[in-house]
Amino acid sequence: SSKVIAKELLPVVDTPAIQVVVEEAVASGIAEIILVISPGKTTVADHFEPNAELERYLEARDKLDILELVRRSNNPARITIAEQRRPLGLGHAVLQAREVVGDEPFAVMLPDDIFDCPRPCLRQLLDVAETRDAPVVALLKVARSELSKYGIVDPKPVAERTYELRGMVEKPAPEKAPSEFAIMGRYVLTPDIFELLAAGKPGAGGEIQLTDALMALTGRRKIYGYEFEGVRYDLGDRVGFISAQIGFGLKRPDLAERLRAYLKSVISQ
Ligand code: G1P
Repeated sequence: SSKVIAKELLPVVDTPAIQVVVEEAVASGIAEIILVISPGKTTVADHFEPNAELERYLEARDKLDILELVRRSNNPARITIAEQRRPLGLGHAVLQAREVVGDEPFAVMLPDDIFDCPRPCLRQLLDVAETRDAPVVALLKVARSELSKYGIVDPKPVAERTYELRGMVEKPAPEKAPSEFAIMGRYVLTPDIFELLAAGKPGAGGEIQLTDALMALTGRRKIYGYEFEGVRYDLGDRVGFISAQIGFGLKRPDLAERLRAYLKSVISQ
């Protein structure tokens, strides 16, 4: 936890988490992004604004690798801000985007979850959503001890990696969990979710839960889960945060060799 740096700006190797997520969206074909942020977090939006002075400084000092990194964050997509004035939960946060989203399908991406996938995780979900013309959530099998951290679904297999969701429950006690499949922070949704969110009562933790609105939606239409191909890191967890640095660091040609040597030296102690 940090008092002055929004956690969305904490880096994965050298790129703020929010940038990693926006790049996944863009690589998945999304052209317009709405950042739902709490009033104290305007720096998250500032990150995507060009900073000419910084660019001139880096250019003058010949810091071209950093310059490239800085330029990569300049308006990578059309970005709109929606403020969530009170922290009333994920469902409430999604509701703040209602007006900008309008009457179209949209995606929800939670920046605590980041992915290393052969095809972007959101793209994998969009493919299923487009074929089935239905909402789709990302699924991952988790250990029994982890079930109470997530939304857990009741899945009926319908195709490879694809499940129709008969129900779901937010942060259940392990003995109440309908399966071992947890929802990860990527969703493709349809605008009919908004009225259910608006009518939603506080659920687990006293918050307006997206999972509860999705549960209500299962009574109206088919919803699917997709067990995505790839690795997911939980940046909200200390070990997950460190693992992400190592996992993505080892994939970087410019860093891998030194990082591997360092890891060998600490492990063998
Ligand atoms: C949220 C959702 C939960 C989901 C999780 C994925 O929980 O409410 O259903 O499984 O994200 O990371 P949070 O992590 O905000 O507690």
